[in-house]
Amino acid sequence: MKGIILAGGLGSRLFPCTKVTNKHLLPVFNKPMIYYPILTMVNAGLKDIMIVTGGGSAEDFIKILGDGGEFGLKISYAYQEGEGGIADALRLSESFAQGEKIFVVLGDNILDDDISEDINDFEKQERGAKIFLKEVTDPERFGVAEIRDGKVSGIVEKPKNPKSNFAVCGLYLYDNSAFEIIKTLKPSGRGELEITDVNNVFIERGDMTYAVLDGWWTDAGTFESLLKASNLVAKKEGFIF
Ligand code: DAU
Repeated sequence: MKGIILAGGLGSRLFPCTKVTNKHLLPVFNKPMIYYPILTMVNAGLKDIMIVTGGGSAEDFIKILGDGGEFGLKISYAYQEGEGGIADALRLSESFAQGEKIFVVLGDNILDDDISEDINDFEKQERGAKIFLKEVTDPERFGVAEIRDGKVSGIVEKPKNPKSNFAVCGLYLYDNSAFEIIKTLKPSGRGELEITDVNNVFIERGDMTYAVLDGWWTDAGTFESLLKASNLVAKKEGFIF
């Protein structure tokens, strides 16, 4: 299985901090944000990963991470022109994936759980996809999953009236057909190729499984969530404020 970290986008919700650097290089407590999805990959047992980035600071990823040797990884890089959405960024890793299953992590997602067992389960899953859900108090900020009879029956991206409190986390396990699905997508109302549309195709096919995270999980793409992420990491590392 190959690992893919998506770290493009403009990070406009963190302006002016993202005017001169990429969001994923900003600090979350004592490490650059990009370290956390990298450590998620390491904990999941992956060895070969690609980082898709964009904007004006792409070379800084190489300065910070190099070839990945420090993490016991081999890191490849791809560059996303513009901000065409999460699925558009994922599209760029097709040749890297070489027909294998993929584990995709959004560069601003930070979690406490060890999900290596879920990764092993997905290795055995014949085909399709697996997503991770977490109950939150502000579901309208996320893709929200509806669950019926123990299965995800659909996902709505940032709904005004969410049908559940289950946010879809930015951690996705896919078989290689994800790349074929992306080729069929049309840009959404916000002009992006949406990862939620990819997930809904797997759901329609009856090929989607899910796991609910036990520990904390957060994104770090707004000032509020960036602060929350720093506090959660600090607490985990034993710092009390
Ligand atoms: O954090 C989980 C949520 O992430 C999911 O619940 C949503 O379904 C999903 O759409 C996404 O929502 P956001 O609106 O928070 O995504 P955002 O635009 O902040 O992008 C998240 C990461 O994806 C970002 O840190 C880098 C990567 N990305 C995003 C875009 C738009 C790219 O690599 N390229 C892009 O063009």
